[in-house]
Order: sequence, then C-alpha cells, then structure tokens
Amino acid sequence: MKKTTLALALAAWVSLPALAQQPAQQVEVLHWWTSGGEAAALKVLKSNLEKDGIGWKDSPIAGGGGEQAMTALRARVSAGIPPTAVQMLGFDIQDWAKDGRLANLNDLAAKEGWDAVVPAPLQRFSKHAGQWVAVPVNIHSTNWVWANKEVLAKAGVTAEPKTWDEFIAAAESVQKAGFIALAHGGQPWQEATIFDGVVLATGGVDFYRKAFIELDPAALASPTMEKVFHRMSQLRKLVDKDFSGRDWNVASGMVISGKAGFQIMGDWAKGEFLNAKKVPGKDFACFRLPGTQGMVSFNSDQFAMFLVKGADKVAAQQKLAAAIMDKGFQSAFNVVKGSVPARTDVSDKDFDDCGKKGIKDLAEAARKNTLVGSIAHGHAVPASLKNAFYDVITRHFNGQIDDKKAVAAMVAAARQ
Ligand code: BGC
Repeated sequence: MKKTTLALALAAWVSLPALAQQPAQQVEVLHWWTSGGEAAALKVLKSNLEKDGIGWKDSPIAGGGGEQAMTALRARVSAGIPPTAVQMLGFDIQDWAKDGRLANLNDLAAKEGWDAVVPAPLQRFSKHAGQWVAVPVNIHSTNWVWANKEVLAKAGVTAEPKTWDEFIAAAESVQKAGFIALAHGGQPWQEATIFDGVVLATGGVDFYRKAFIELDPAALASPTMEKVFHRMSQLRKLVDKDFSGRDWNVASGMVISGKAGFQIMGDWAKGEFLNAKKVPGKDFACFRLPGTQGMVSFNSDQFAMFLVKGADKVAAQQKLAAAIMDKGFQSAFNVVKGSVPARTDVSDKDFDDCGKKGIKDLAEAARKNTLVGSIAHGHAVPASLKNAFYDVITRHFNGQIDDKKAVAAMVAAARQ
C-alpha cells in the first residue's frame, strides 16, 4: 500500500511540472495594431480568447496601413514559420490565397452561417475560389474628418463645413487663429488615405470607379484628376512644417490635445480620441470629408488564416475564427476600434454617435451603390499598383511634381 502511494506520489512529482509546461492551445497573431486605441481594441479579442483557454502570442509590427507587417510576413512564410493568423487588407488576402498558403474555413463558415451575415463586398476578399480563407473583424472607412471642437470655436468656425470650399475656408481660419489647421503625418499611406476622400469629393463615385478601379486612361488623364491634385496642393498648405514621417496617431494626438483643428483620417482615429477619454459631439466632431456625404470608401481588416500543422494548432485557429465572428465580440471590438461590425446583424445600440453614423452611412452607401473600396488600404487595386499610386501621390504632396505632372505620372503608373 505504502509502496503504491509512494509510487503515485513520485509519478505525480515527475509529471506535474511536465503538465504545467505543456502548452495550452495557442494562436500567434501578426498585426499592426500598435497605437493606444488599436491596442485597446485588440485587448477585447485577446481576453475573449484567454477566457476560452486559448493562449495569445502577440506579433505586432508597427506601421499604419500594414506595409511593414506585410514585409515581416513574407520573411516568416519564406522561413516556413507562418503565424496562425495575420491582419490583412483586401487584395493581399487574395494574393496569399492564390499562393496556396491559406486554410480552408468552409466547414466552420457553413456551421456558423457566415454567408448570410457578412456583406458581399467583404466576402469578395474573405473568400478565394469559393473557400473562406479569412475572417473579417470590422469595416473601416477613410473619408472622415476629425475635429477639435474647442479649437474650432476659438477660430470662429461655428458650423460644420459642407462643401470643399467651406472646408478650406474653415481650415484657413484655424490656421489664422494660430493653430495647425491640418494634423498630418507625411507617410505615403497617410497621403493616400487623404487622397481616397479627395477623389470622391472631386469626381464622385463614378469617377472614382472609372479612374481607380477600372483604370480608365481617359478618367486618369482628365481635368477632374488635375483638380484632385490641385486640392491635394491646397491641403499641403494647411499642414505644419514638421509633418514629414510623423505617425498617424501622433497626428491624431495633435487634434486631441488642441494643437490642431482637423485630421483627415480613417475611423481608426476615433479609437485614439476614445482612448484619450474624449467624447464625440462634446470634445470632438466627426464628419465625412465635405463633398463625400452619402459615399463611403471602405476597408476591412480581416484575419487571414494560414495553413498550420497539428490538430491542436488547427483547433486553436478555428476557435480564433469563431471568436472573431461572434456577434457580441463584433460589437464590443468595433465600439473601441472606431469601425463598424463586419456582420449585418449587429445592433448599433452600444455605439456612440460617430459609430452610429458610420453604420448608417455604410448601409446607405451599400443601398445606393456608392460604396467603394479604399485605394489607400488595399481594396481598390492590388498591392503593386497601390504602391505605384502611393509613390505619385507622395511625390506630389512633397512638391517634387506639380499637379499636371502628377496626372501624367498617375496615367503611367496605372499602365504598369
Ligand atoms: C487598418 C486599421 C489601422 C490603420 C492604422 C489600416 O490599414 O485597416 O485597422 O488602425 O491601418 O494602423
């Protein structure tokens, strides 16, 4: 008897540490959500998974728009060690799927009825050749302006600008009152983000589609395109001298702290305002870039699921996918992130006024066919073309080419 007890105790002593070390199911997630607001949103997902007993290995790669994250991903895949899931935008998902690197989530999608609840413009990217390969976490849009209400009041800007000219006049008043008019970070993706809205404001949805989705040479070379660049030049005069290289969230911080009046940025900027405990409608205002009300240039962060080996890893990946698609999560996450749920059956009741407006605008744009993929964030054209456009937009913004030369460079870029 004694012997047996001893043997059992010994066995427990030997195996307990081994048990303790046994890795729980874990997911490794590569993403570029490193700002305060982004990290707060990501925490919602991490803690939901942890409650489900799934460990989280965080692989953050800083850099808005995700260019650096995509470079890091290529290195991981070439080394044969892809992460479980990767934050990804539009056409990039399709490229990885074409390359045969992504998992097939069809069984889970069928079980959970994703086909019926994920909007078609997102499914166009979540699926490849009929297979679900990625799971959408949100819908962002880029044609937004964020404004500090106190700065505007001090500058005598009492009404929300409704037209392009009113917007420029309001920004000039802010500048004259001694503030920075437009908080901006001089990085190509940020300039391209502004460009999305300026194209819509100047040419409308039909022009946007003709020029940047169909790549129609006549539209790209048109006087409307020259006007787009003229407007980008107007904005260039409204930024401070230190704009070069500044991160987008630092620019948001300038509006939050009252150094600047406006920022033109996707609705992830709202995450920064909320993280700083600012209240929409009281401390800050959100409105569509004047001239674009009724239109939405969207992008959706999806988690592309890489092919992983081993039953445990596959099981953890499936749990991650299901956790992302959970209705409660889609609400809780997007309330913090600034975006809109990627399911059509999530109530707007927990969202603030900017969020409610985002949800309403999106539904309206989908109904009226005025919803377009963001050029800047990988939902209009594939990455190589997107980067060629970035290059022209940035060279122009930095004064290296004038409006006319920028038009010619755009036409040439689209030809490649
Ligand atoms: C992503 C957002 C992110 C932003 C800045 C965009 O491409 O869609 O989720 O917050 O980049 O990092």
